[in-house]
Amino acid sequence: MSDVLNRIEELRATALQQVQAAADTAALEELRVRHLGRKAELPNLLRGVADLPPDQRGAVGKAANQARQAVEALIDERTSALAAGELDARLAADAVDLTLPGTPPRPVGRLHLLTQTRREIEDVFLGLGFRVAEGPEVEWVHYNFDALNHAPAHPARGRSDTFYVRPTDGTAPPEHGSPDEIVLRTHTSPMQVRSMEAQGPPIAIIVPGRVYRRDSDATHTPQFHQVEGLWVDEDITLADLKGVLLAFARAIFGPDRDVRLRPHFFPFTEPSVEVDVSCFQCAGSGELRGTKPPQRCNLCKGTGWLEILGSGMVDPDVLGYVREFGYGDGAQGFAFGMGIERIAMLKHGVPDLRLYYDNDLRFLEQFG
Ligand code: DAH
Repeated sequence: MSDVLNRIEELRATALQQVQAAADTAALEELRVRHLGRKAELPNLLRGVADLPPDQRGAVGKAANQARQAVEALIDERTSALAAGELDARLAADAVDLTLPGTPPRPVGRLHLLTQTRREIEDVFLGLGFRVAEGPEVEWVHYNFDALNHAPAHPARGRSDTFYVRPTDGTAPPEHGSPDEIVLRTHTSPMQVRSMEAQGPPIAIIVPGRVYRRDSDATHTPQFHQVEGLWVDEDITLADLKGVLLAFARAIFGPDRDVRLRPHFFPFTEPSVEVDVSCFQCAGSGELRGTKPPQRCNLCKGTGWLEILGSGMVDPDVLGYVREFGYGDGAQGFAFGMGIERIAMLKHGVPDLRLYYDNDLRFLEQFG
């Protein structure tokens, strides 16, 4: 009899000690099975009580039952203590910081090469102190041709070169002439007089935008893009023009570039120049490096120079249109105009103007 009671006490002590030492709820579950499960010794002893001599049943049954309850109670107590700690640990480990920015989705598109190039050009001139202005694409003949000194018979005025626009109701504000005198602007230069009317000197602006001409072939599209530049103050000279355009050429085509000015003619500048940048493919040599016998550079056609824009000192006749806005005798400065398509073609080796407008992803995805 005391053997059985001793055994119960032993089982109880071992179980309690193991339960006390269990490190987590999984271990406790395992101990519950080991000590209280169907095959465990203590429950078996309890089940065997009925077979004992009657005078032993009470004491053994009581001891075994108490032992079982004690083990069960301790397992329950330890389980709830450990479970709380385990939950805390899991919550801490799983914590999601909702204030963190989400994983950014891969951008589905990119800027068109022409937009990228326009922004690049704008950045360069903003850095040089120019402001970006925009003007209307539907323009008076006055600003597009007359105020820019185009002779009445200038060929660009012809209907074969220029899109003329009629208001649908046949009327137009009377300030600059009849409805016949509205065009889709053929260049961004009309913004020269417009912006000087809006602001006295000093003025330093660039004007990016769409322009239109009745032309369509491998090197011409009816709509394309230009950037106009204008800097007028009292003492702006051809040297400033060259310095500004040299800084521009180096920013866009590389720090080793040079520029040269070639005499030219535009109705609205005097003197007028065309501006070339030294060829970045052959470093201005006209020959492809490392070729024997020397091969002619295909980009500059062996000349060492690439034409990038038209420019000149603003003609006094043009300033005459804005005299009353503060551009009197002392005012002088320069203007320039470039094609965005051409700048991007040169810089990225784009062989055909129409690639810009075909929307072929194989082309577009090469940039940006
Ligand atoms: N407007 C001219 C063109 O479309 C380009 C140009 C030349 C603009 C000389 C200028 C300039 O401002 O000074 O061909």
